[in-house]
Amino acid sequence: MIYMLDTANLAAIERGVDLYPLAGVTTNPSIIAKENRPMRSILMDIREIIGTSRMLHAQVMGDTAEVMHQEAKLLHKFDNELIIKVPVTPQGIKAMQMIAADGIRITATAILTPQQALMAAVAGAEFLAPYINRLDNICSNGVQVASDIVKLIENYQLDAKVLAASFKNVQQVHEAIMSGIQSITIVPEVFDQLLVHPLTDSGVAGFVSDWEGVYGQGKTVLDVF
Ligand code: E4P
Repeated sequence: MIYMLDTANLAAIERGVDLYPLAGVTTNPSIIAKENRPMRSILMDIREIIGTSRMLHAQVMGDTAEVMHQEAKLLHKFDNELIIKVPVTPQGIKAMQMIAADGIRITATAILTPQQALMAAVAGAEFLAPYINRLDNICSNGVQVASDIVKLIENYQLDAKVLAASFKNVQQVHEAIMSGIQSITIVPEVFDQLLVHPLTDSGVAGFVSDWEGVYGQGKTVLDVF
């Protein structure tokens, strides 16, 4: 599983990189705008924290393919490891073909149907980002859409990977992962929830109490082995 953190919050990214096996960070225009400072500095700061071995995804905003292509080239010139997010509109699909022809990596975003994903993959997108929670919110089935995209990738032997996005709870994450997706991006609050279980907490507390009763408070294996 390729895990990514869906945020531009530097403290959350620092913490995530420190704790978790993160392959990268994804942003979108809303996430960038939330930081309320220039996009260039945000991306620079994130890159400084995650290094060049992890992926960083940033989205274009133009409403024509030509503008999106120019934005992609500008972003790529600024950081040539950047993966450019492009929405699956008709202009976006056109832009993907232009951006892919320049050898720039693409994440197709705002995917709500399997057919949008298939066309984006054929147009050159490396990652396909279906929005699970936004589908669930309208009584559609986000996981089913992700699962259909996985099947399409297999059937047509495409190089693309599903980057499932938009999660509000661990059950959505679990079901998406069980559907065979290759990668996932999760907001920090939900990411932390992936490890939460009260029996884990009480189990660890029991180990500490039994251990400390014999070897002393605060002692680790390093102290007593
Ligand atoms: C990632 O590609 C998406 O932009 C993001 O996950 C959307 O999440 P939201 O539905 O919580 O805004």
